[in-house]
Amino acid sequence: MEAASSIPKIHLSFLFLLFIISPISSATCPSTNKLPSSLSARQAQKLVRSLNLCPKRSTNIVLTDHVFVPQGDRIVEKQLKFPKLVAPGPSVQDLGHHAGYYSLPQSKAARMFYFFFESRNKKTDPVVIWLTGGPGCSSSLALFYENGPFQITQNLSLSWNDYGWDKVSNILFVDQPIGTGFSYSSDKTDIPHNEEGVSNALYDFLQAFFKEHPQFQKNDFYVTGESYAGHYLPALASRLHQANKANEGIHINLKGMAIGNGLTNPEIQYPAYPDFALERGLIQKDEYNSIKQLVPSCVQSAQACGKEGGDACLSSFSNCNAIFGQILSVTGDINYYDVRKQCKGDLCYDFSGVERLLNKKEVKEAVGVSEELDFVSCSTVVYEAMEGDWMRNMEEVIPALLEEGIKVLVYAGEEDLICNWLGNWRWVHAMEWSGQKLFGASPNVSFVVDGKEAGTLKTHAALSFLKLREAGHMVPMDQPKAALQMLTRWMQSKLSI
Ligand SMILES: *[C@@H]1O[C@H](CO)[C@@H](O)[C@H](O)[C@H]1NC(C)=O
Ligand SMILES: *[C@@H]1O[C@H](CO)[C@@H](O)[C@H](O)[C@H]1NC(C)=O
Repeated sequence: MEAASSIPKIHLSFLFLLFIISPISSATCPSTNKLPSSLSARQAQKLVRSLNLCPKRSTNIVLTDHVFVPQGDRIVEKQLKFPKLVAPGPSVQDLGHHAGYYSLPQSKAARMFYFFFESRNKKTDPVVIWLTGGPGCSSSLALFYENGPFQITQNLSLSWNDYGWDKVSNILFVDQPIGTGFSYSSDKTDIPHNEEGVSNALYDFLQAFFKEHPQFQKNDFYVTGESYAGHYLPALASRLHQANKANEGIHINLKGMAIGNGLTNPEIQYPAYPDFALERGLIQKDEYNSIKQLVPSCVQSAQACGKEGGDACLSSFSNCNAIFGQILSVTGDINYYDVRKQCKGDLCYDFSGVERLLNKKEVKEAVGVSEELDFVSCSTVVYEAMEGDWMRNMEEVIPALLEEGIKVLVYAGEEDLICNWLGNWRWVHAMEWSGQKLFGASPNVSFVVDGKEAGTLKTHAALSFLKLREAGHMVPMDQPKAALQMLTRWMQSKLSI
């Protein structure tokens, strides 16, 4: 099915999430970047620039493998000491900071890159994995701008983040899918096209990680992330859970999954756009009525995608994104990650520091990355490879987790449009599981931080929904203290206290 021709042609891009509406202007990147040939990749590229990112390559697929470490299937990891880390603070050596690669045994030649920061508190704290969305954006974006131990200063030195999630957990930031960040392969077929590929690779990665760090095997384990991780996380949690039940590999002590401003159930979340936009005063009632007309074909095609996969998912992608495009055509330069803000020209955020930092020779050396690799902050190639995955409904695997008491937290900064709280609220309520009725009937309670209401919480059994105030798409960036409190209390099962 094609979108009706009266609808301006728009496409969705990175679910950092990145969307695009206007035609591609000539490259603003001050590099020798060639524009990729396909339309959707060019659109994705423009959106990457809204974050002021400008990766030199569209993905990390390298021609030959021989110059790179590691060989074989072992993990290659080194103790990490960033040059120019700004004191005061504990010394890095004391803390157990690591970065490294693991070769994925089921791939042709893939190497997955990660940072691992042991807890600043105690080593028995839970192990947490964080996944940034895109698909195809590096988890280092979150590391340095959201919930990692450091933040990047103007002059590219690092300062300690008082609200880093490593204060209460041993945390992994993984560059995935392959081709993203510093993760690479010499074979482009190692770039996955769906959640099966994503979750198998992450499963292999985690097996390798726990083999290398057996002292953490008994710790509680949580999967967390944002945005397109609303797809990755249910797939990963479900993969881990199945492996545990089948006694496959090293037992990973999965306790919960936290999805922040995620895209999980598109069939429900896309129709929520016009409702959210109207409620939030971004569009008028007549505009709302006209945009609503796009909803039925979006829903129909999303259902077809769920049943058939394949081409139905691609046409659904374009049908449904017409809704978002229409809203943006009304709202203009609004920052769709945070509707309180405007984008200035192409620029919505400036995350360029992470590219400048991680591409420095001495930093690559410190983290064990070959000088010949560039840091691909967001990969347009990985994004494109996952296009058929976008409209898949990932909610379906969650009830089985809930029934076994694996905690599920769906949280959302209330100022985000692109993965807005309303769409998340709706799918969480529509999800069929044994606690559905009681969850629906549970009261809203205040989520209080420092004596002030930081959000609204609803919880029953293993399921919680939390809407956070004065936060957009990237909650730990906008409300670092509330985000850290949220993680801490949720892991202790004391979210509502
Ligand atoms: C970099 O900036 C920080 C503060 O933002 C300052 O403390 C530090 O001295 C600066 N370092 C250099 C080398 O200029
Ligand atoms: C609970 O909170 C949600 C989100 O803020 C709101 O839409 C809903 O109306 C509230 N329900 C009640 C019963 O107050």
